[in-house]
Amino acid sequence: MTKRNVRPVTASDYRRLARRRLPHFLFDYIDGGANDERTMAANQADFDRVCLQQRVLRDVSQVDTGSVMVGHKVSMPLALSPLGLAGMMARRGEVQAVKAAGRAGVPFTLSTVGICSMQEVAAAASGPFWFQLYMMHDRELVAWLLQQAWSSGCETLVFTVDLAVTGARHRDLRNGMLGHTFAAKLARAGQVARRPHWLVDVALRGRPHSFGNLRNELHDATDLTSYKAYMQSEFDTSVTWQDIAWLRNLWAGKLIIKGVMSADDARAAADVGADGLIVSNHGGRQLDGSSSTIRKLPEVVAAVGQRVEVYLDGGVRSGIDVVKAVCLGARGAFIGRPWIWAVAARGESGLVDLLEIFRKEIAVAMALMGVNTIAELNPELVEWR
Ligand SMILES: Cc1cc2nc3c(=O)[nH]c(=O)nc-3n(C[C@H](O)[C@H](O)[C@H](O)COP(=O)(O)O)c2cc1C
Repeated sequence: MTKRNVRPVTASDYRRLARRRLPHFLFDYIDGGANDERTMAANQADFDRVCLQQRVLRDVSQVDTGSVMVGHKVSMPLALSPLGLAGMMARRGEVQAVKAAGRAGVPFTLSTVGICSMQEVAAAASGPFWFQLYMMHDRELVAWLLQQAWSSGCETLVFTVDLAVTGARHRDLRNGMLGHTFAAKLARAGQVARRPHWLVDVALRGRPHSFGNLRNELHDATDLTSYKAYMQSEFDTSVTWQDIAWLRNLWAGKLIIKGVMSADDARAAADVGADGLIVSNHGGRQLDGSSSTIRKLPEVVAAVGQRVEVYLDGGVRSGIDVVKAVCLGARGAFIGRPWIWAVAARGESGLVDLLEIFRKEIAVAMALMGVNTIAELNPELVEWR
């Protein structure tokens, strides 16, 4: 896609459009990973190592992409991963995303550090919205967040466990994303000045830019240095599986543990009473050098696939990738960067469009693999190369 007005037909088309809309430091904040970004690259590259089995003449006149994720009926086995600061990429970004997800029939997950509050998101939701939690030292605050989520109508909690500390994001450092110095502010202002649409649509008309769920603790999401400092001081690095047991008792709804990359941790998640887990390395933003998620998926499925629902995120860029993950045992896949590219580029309608692209790709792949239902996808329909 080189010309400006060519219709986007893939996630990477939306990425290119988002790049034109966003100030450089914000685009890189989304696009980047930890350290040398090897794990981030592997997440995507390893999907290319999985080959689908073509099957013919099997009556595929009844292809149905519908499925069920932790008790919710969905139009396809896909959900939106939690992304902090989404409301800085598009005007009230989380609200636009939850509306699009509702229209497309897939779940949306709101980050602890989203711009829009649970209440604002709940008011716009027409389908399931899930809440993602990080563990904070202040357990009263955690309990309060859970109570807010429940009373907002959220029935599924996604608890992220792979952010004991924050990975080194070199692009953010280079771009002065976190800098308080005059030079850093000047650099950011220069990048903003080159994106007048974002300036008017998001920076001016998209206010307030506080962290909606932490508005009493952390006021200004544009002050990213304070945000980082808050994360470092308030996010609890001493969390263990015992704390998850505490959380499990407190939360009456479904619980999904996000950030599991080993069979042992998967068994611990199942033992503590989780309903599901997400094989995730935070999109390659944490431990650089760790495996891709698609490579780890079979090991985790073999360990706990009979006990909990296993999901995957990281590097999913098309409906075909979703089909590969489901064949390898995932109940469904999540997407992170692709949804924010679509919302940053074209708002709610962009994301509705992208989700329909995914759904069609899943349907076409299923038909060409000779299956009519998601339940028929299985490991015999893929091979590694
Ligand atoms: C900009 C950005 C912000 C993120 N913020 C969060 C967050 O607040 N909570 C969380 O659990 N994961 C967060 N993640 C990780 C995503 O939920 C997800 O695991 C990852 O994006 C999946 O990989 P993908 O982007 O290749 O699809 C973030 C990722 C990105 C790119």
